[in-house]
Amino acid sequence: MTEGLLTSAYIVSGVLFILALGGLSNQETAGRGNIYGIVGMIIALVATIGGAQVTNYTTLAGCMVVGAIVGIYLASRVQMTQMPELVAMLHSFVGLAAVLVGYASYLDPGTHLQGVERVIHEVEIYLGILIGAVTFTGSVAAFGKLSGRISSKPLLLPGRHWINLGLGLACVWLGYLFVGAEGESGQLPLIIMTLVSLLFGVLMVMAIGGADMPVVISMLNSYSGWAAAATGFMLQNDLLIVTGALVGSSGAILSYIMCRAMNRKFLAVIAGGFGTTAGSGSGVVDDGREAVPISAQDTADLLSSAGSVIIVPGYGMAVAQAQHSINEITKKLRDNGVEVRFAIHPVAGRMPGHMNVLLAEAKVPYDIVLEMDEINADFENADAVLVIGANDIVNPSAQTDPASPIAGMPVLEVWKAKSVVIMKRSMAAGYAGVQNPLFFEDNARMLFGDAKSSVDSILASV
Ligand code: TAP
Repeated sequence: MTEGLLTSAYIVSGVLFILALGGLSNQETAGRGNIYGIVGMIIALVATIGGAQVTNYTTLAGCMVVGAIVGIYLASRVQMTQMPELVAMLHSFVGLAAVLVGYASYLDPGTHLQGVERVIHEVEIYLGILIGAVTFTGSVAAFGKLSGRISSKPLLLPGRHWINLGLGLACVWLGYLFVGAEGESGQLPLIIMTLVSLLFGVLMVMAIGGADMPVVISMLNSYSGWAAAATGFMLQNDLLIVTGALVGSSGAILSYIMCRAMNRKFLAVIAGGFGTTAGSGSGVVDDGREAVPISAQDTADLLSSAGSVIIVPGYGMAVAQAQHSINEITKKLRDNGVEVRFAIHPVAGRMPGHMNVLLAEAKVPYDIVLEMDEINADFENADAVLVIGANDIVNPSAQTDPASPIAGMPVLEVWKAKSVVIMKRSMAAGYAGVQNPLFFEDNARMLFGDAKSSVDSILASV
C-alpha cells in the first residue's frame, strides 16, 4: 500500500471515529455511531496490515485469531451488569500493550536517532511506559473491586499522600536519569520506573472507595487513551495518536461529568478515601419509624388511579431484567390516559447510560425518558413515583445529612411526589453502603421482592 493511500485510509478512519463518538452521545443515533466505529476500525486494521512496516504476516494472523477468539468469547458471555468489569479488563490490555511497545521501541536495534530526535523519542518511550504501567495495574485493581474479588472499601495506608508524592518524585528523577543516558545505562532507571508505576496504579485504585468507582473507570479509560497516543508517537502512527487523543479526552470529559453528577471533586476522587462509613441497612431508622410494605395489587391500583407517574430505574432493574415488563406497564398506563415518564440519574446502575441502554432495548419511547436535570423539578407534581431497584440515586440524606458519605451528590427528589413505591428485595443498602431514609417517609411504601416478579404482578393487575 502506498504512503498516500495509507494516510487517506487513516484520515477516513479518524473521521469515522469522531462520527462514532458523536453518534454514541445519543441513544437514537447510538446504533449508527457503533457502525461508524466498526467500519473505521476495519479500515484502520486493513490499512495498517497493508502498510510497509508490517512484514511478518504469519505471526500477525496467529495473534489476531487468538485475540478475536478471546474477544468474542468474553463479549458473548458478559452480562450487561458486568460491563464495567469487562471495560476495566480491556483498559488493562491497552496499558500492558503500551508498556510492551515502549520496551520494544527502546530495545529496537534498528533505531539510530541522534540529538533532539533521540531525546524526544526517549521522552515518548518513558511517558508511554509510565502511563501504560499505571493504567495496567490500576485497571486490574479496578476489575478486582468491581467483580467483588477485592473489597470495595478504600485501602487507606498511613501517610498515603506522602507515599504517592514520593513515588511521583521518584518517577521524575528516574526520567531525568533515563533521558539521554549513554548505551544501555538507561535500562535500569526505566525498569525501576516501570515497577514504581505498577505499584502506583495499584495504590491509586485501592485507595478509592466503591462509590467512586465509576469515575475511576472513566479515568482509566482516559489514561488508556493517552497511553495509546504515546504509543502512536513512539511508532510514528498518526491514527494511533488521533484515536488515543479522542479516547483520552472523551474519557476525561466523562470523568468530569460524572464527578459533577456525584458532586465530587476530581482530585478528591483520585486522593481516595471516600466510602469508608457504611450504613446499617436495618428496617428501622433512629427516630423509630418503620418502613411500610405495600402489595403489588395496591401498587397497580395506585398507578392506575394516578394522573402522572414517574418511573425511576436503578441497578436492581438491570439485575432483575425487568425493563420489558416495565415497558408493558407503561404502554397500558398510557393507553388509559396516565402520563408516564422515566427519570434517569447520570450514575444509575453500574455504567454511564446503563438505564438508557436497557430502556432502549425494551423499546420504551425516547421522548418519555428524561435526564435528571430535565425532570427533577417535576416530582412535586407527580401523583406516584415507582422506584425500581434504585437506592443511592434517590437517597434524601445526600441533601440533608452533611456527614453522609454521599452528601452533596445530586439525587432524584422522589420524596416530593404524592406517593412513592420502592421495589427492592430487602432493606439492604445500595452501592455506597448507606442507609436510605426515603424508605421511612410517610408517603413511601416498600414493594418487596425481585423487581421482575413484582413488575409482572403489577402488570397482571393494572
Ligand atoms: P444502588 O444504590 O446500588 O441500589 C440498587 C438497589 O437495587 C439495591 O439497594 C438492591 O436492594 C436493589 N436490587 C438489587 N437486585 C434487585 C432485584 N433483583 N430486584 C429488586 N431490587 C434489586 O443502585 P442505584 O440507585 O442505581 O445507584 C447506582 C450506584 O452505583 C451509585 O452509588 C453509583 O455511584 C454507583 N455506580 C454507578 C456506576 C455508573 S457509571 N452508573 C458505576 C459503578 C457504581 P436489595 O438488595 O434489597 O434488593
